[in-house]
Amino acid sequence: MTDLLGDLKRTHHCCQLRDTDINKDVVLMGWVQHRRDHGGVIFVDLRDKEGITQIVFNPEVSKKIHEKAQKLRNEYVLGVKGKVIARPDDMLNPNMKTGAIEVLINELRIFSRAKTPAFQIEDRVEASESIRLQYRYLDLRRPQLKNNILARHKATIAVRNYLDNNGFVDIETPFLTKSTPEGARDYLVPSRVNQGEFYALPQSPQLFKQLLMIAGFDKYYQIVKCFRDEDLRADRQPEFTQIDMELSFVEEQQVMEIAEGMITAIFKKVLDINLVTPFSQITYDEAMARFGLDRPDLRFGLELCDISDIVKNAGFKVFANVVKNGGLVKAINAKGCASFTRKQIDELTDFTAVYKAKGLAWIKIKEEGWQSPIVKFFTDEEKETLRKRLELEPGDIVFFVADQPKITNEALGQLRNELAKRLELISDDTYEFTWVTLFPLLEYDETEKRYQALHHPFTAPLEEDIEKLSSNPLAVKSRAYDLVLNGIEIGGGSIRIHSAELQSKVLDCLGIDETEANEKFGFLLNALASGAPPHGGIAFGLDRLMMLLCKEDSIRNVIAFPKTQKATCLLTEAPSKAATAQLQDLAIKVSKIKE
Ligand code: AMO
Ligand code: AMP
Repeated sequence: MTDLLGDLKRTHHCCQLRDTDINKDVVLMGWVQHRRDHGGVIFVDLRDKEGITQIVFNPEVSKKIHEKAQKLRNEYVLGVKGKVIARPDDMLNPNMKTGAIEVLINELRIFSRAKTPAFQIEDRVEASESIRLQYRYLDLRRPQLKNNILARHKATIAVRNYLDNNGFVDIETPFLTKSTPEGARDYLVPSRVNQGEFYALPQSPQLFKQLLMIAGFDKYYQIVKCFRDEDLRADRQPEFTQIDMELSFVEEQQVMEIAEGMITAIFKKVLDINLVTPFSQITYDEAMARFGLDRPDLRFGLELCDISDIVKNAGFKVFANVVKNGGLVKAINAKGCASFTRKQIDELTDFTAVYKAKGLAWIKIKEEGWQSPIVKFFTDEEKETLRKRLELEPGDIVFFVADQPKITNEALGQLRNELAKRLELISDDTYEFTWVTLFPLLEYDETEKRYQALHHPFTAPLEEDIEKLSSNPLAVKSRAYDLVLNGIEIGGGSIRIHSAELQSKVLDCLGIDETEANEKFGFLLNALASGAPPHGGIAFGLDRLMMLLCKEDSIRNVIAFPKTQKATCLLTEAPSKAATAQLQDLAIKVSKIKE
C-alpha cells in the first residue's frame, strides 16, 4: 500500500531552504536520491527538479516514522513534513545550496515505490547510451540532462519575449502537407481518405512562411518541428526544432540585426553572457579559401594555403597533374608539430581519406633540413617559395592534399578542425560567431546531371547576377546567409524571390519545367503573382544552438526524447510494424523488406 497525497501541500522545493529558514515547518516532495543509516538516525537526500535537501528521521521524534523510513529505497517518491534545523558544524556542506540545514521529519508519506533503477541517477553515469535512451525518464532525472532541458526552456522563453517585443506573430503551419524541398528525403504519411495519396511532413515551414508574408502578417515566427529523412550524425535528428522567422520589406542587414538581437537575448538569459554585435561576416569564397569549409571555426588559426601555382610544374607528378586537370593543391602548416610520429601521420591520413582525399603528403621542417618522401621532387626555388608562402620554420610539419577543389577543401578543412582538437587549440569558453554570405545560388549535381539550389529554390539571386542565370548559372551568387558558431551552422536563411517570373526562371534553371513547377509549386507561383512584398527570413536549429550552449557533443543530450543514429526511439520502440487492418484502410501492401 502506498500513501495518498491527501491534504499534504508542498511549501518549498528541494533547493530552497537556507539557514534563514531554521525553525520553519515545511513540506517537501521528491525522490529518494540516497539513504544512509547512521546508527539509528536515517538521512535521506530528497531530490526534485531544483536540487537536493537532506531530511532526517530520528527515532526519538517518532519510532513509527523511523521504522517506515528504514524501508525507503532509491527513487521512492515521498512527501514529508518536518522542521528545518541547523546542521551540526561537522556536517555543514558548503558545496550544497541547502548544505547549512536539514529537515527533521515528523510525517512521512510514500507515494510510490520504485524498482531498482537500471542505472544510478547521477552525472557520472556508466550505463551505455542505449540503456539510457530506453529508460529516458530515468536519464532525464540526472542533473546534467535535466539542466539541459531547463536551459532549453529558458532559451525558448527568451526567443518568444524578444520576438514578441519586436512585433513578430507566432503562427502555426501544417504538418500534414506537401513536399518542401530543403534537400533531404521526405517523411510520407499515407492518406486513408484519399487512398494512394500521401502527405509529406514538412522539412521546414518555408513555403508557408512566405505565404504568410504575402498574406500581410509582416513578421512571423514559430518554434517548430521539422522532419528530414537523412543520414544522421551527432548534430542531426530526423525530427528537430527550428526557430523559424520571416520578415517583410527587409534586406539582409535587417534580418541579420534581428537574428543577432535574438541570439544575444538567448545567451544573456541562458548563460548570462553579453555577446558583442554585430557578428563578423565572411563571404563563402573567402571561407572556402581560408578554411576549406562553408562553416569555418574561427576559434583558431591553422589556415589553408593554396600552393597550386607553386607546384604546377613540380617533379611530384601527383601535384602537377592535379593542377593541370583543374584541381587544387592546398596545404596547412601545423606549427611546431614536426615531432608527429609515423603513427600519428597515418591516423591523420586515414582521417582525410574519410573525406575522399587520395593521400596526405607531408613535409617535416627540421633544423637539419626538410624530411619527407616527396621532398626530393622539389627544386630549391620551389622549396624557397613554399617556405615563404607557408611561413615554414624548423619544428613545423606541413600537410598537403591535391584533388578536385571540393575534395581538397573538405579534406583539409576537416583536417584543420581535427588538428585543432588534437593540439588542444580550442578554448571551451569561446563563442565565435560569423555570418557566411554570398553563397553560390546553384551547384551542379554530377549524378543527376542537373543544377541544384545550394539552399532552397526560393532564395533570391544577387540582382546583378540575374542575367547570368542562363549564360553561366554556376557564377550566380545568392542572397543567402548562414550563421556559424564555433564551426557549426546554427542558422540559415535568405532574401527570397518575390516575383513569380523570377521564381519560374530559377525553377527552370533547376530543370523543373512549367508543368512540374505548376504541379509542385503552383500555389506559390499564384501567390507570388497576387501582390508579394519583398521578404526574407532565417531559421535556427534550436537543438544545435542548445548543444553549443550546454557544451554537449550531441544534440541528443538537449532533446527530451531523441532518436538514435538509426532513427529509432528505444523508449517507445518506434518505428514498429502496422496492423494489417490499418494497412488495409490505407490500401498499403508492404513489399519484401531488405534485411
Ligand atoms: P536549413 O535547412 O538551413 O534552412 O535549416 C535551418 C537550420 O536548422 C538546423 N538543421 C538541423 N538540426 C538538426 N537536425 C537536422 N536534421 C537539421 N537540419 C537542419 C541547422 C540549420 O542551420 N527554410 C530554411 C530556412 C530559411 O531559409 O529561412 C531552412 O530550413 O542549424
Ligand atoms: P606516393 O607517390 O603515392 O607514394 O605518395 C607519396 C606521398 O604523397 C604519400 O604521403 C601520399 O599520402 C601522398 N599523396 C598521394 N596522393 C596524394 C594527393 N592526391 N594529395 C595529397 N597527397 C597525396
